[in-house]
Amino acid sequence: MNTGFSKNIENLINDLRNQNSVTNPMVLEMVESYKLTEQDVAQYFSYNHSPDESYGRQLIYDNGNFKILLMSWKPGDFTAIHNHGYTEWGCVYFFGEATHRLYSVTNDELKIIQKDNFQKGQIASVSGNLTHMMGNSSSKNFSTLHIYGSNSQQSDVSKDAIVYLPELDKEVTTMGSAYLNMDKQLILSEKPLINVSNELVADYFSLVKLFYECNGLSPLLRNMEKKLGNRSIN
Ligand SMILES: [Fe+2]
Repeated sequence: MNTGFSKNIENLINDLRNQNSVTNPMVLEMVESYKLTEQDVAQYFSYNHSPDESYGRQLIYDNGNFKILLMSWKPGDFTAIHNHGYTEWGCVYFFGEATHRLYSVTNDELKIIQKDNFQKGQIASVSGNLTHMMGNSSSKNFSTLHIYGSNSQQSDVSKDAIVYLPELDKEVTTMGSAYLNMDKQLILSEKPLINVSNELVADYFSLVKLFYECNGLSPLLRNMEKKLGNRSIN
């Protein structure tokens, strides 16, 4: 075991490695029991990520059937809308208040079903078909700890994650990354976007606008702007 891990992270990894099979209630209980702090993961902060990564994403540990990552969110950082591939169990632990959207995908239509934020100290369950989007609408940096696991896959548990990109009218698959303005090398396959309402596009636009503006990428929002009736981007 890499002794560079904090005691809490090392114990969490050992706990997960010692299980033959893990469920979401089990992983939630484990993570809750360690009372993690940002000091446990400070060595994985990546707030200085490049603009083609719309949030910091650092791998802490990958055992094949599960992996642990630390995501770092500067003000304006956001994921695209995405799911989690082959993930069967997992969670997100919030070290700060994150803006969050939950979506459903039915009959070839993507719909918003919840707009509640997650608060510091909360833990959210993750499974492969969880379709969501998260980011930082505040003025302060914060990080989140992510665990993705499988009882049947021995590698690449978040492979074939679907990422929905209204700004490009596309949906793509990746190994698990869900960046806005993603490098083409991260894309495994792509196809036209399923149906989305104007309400969804307007909400998405309001969330991602700051990231695109801060990185000189506003022209990439033109497509959505047109859909929204030529509203000005400024
Ligand atoms: Fe996610």
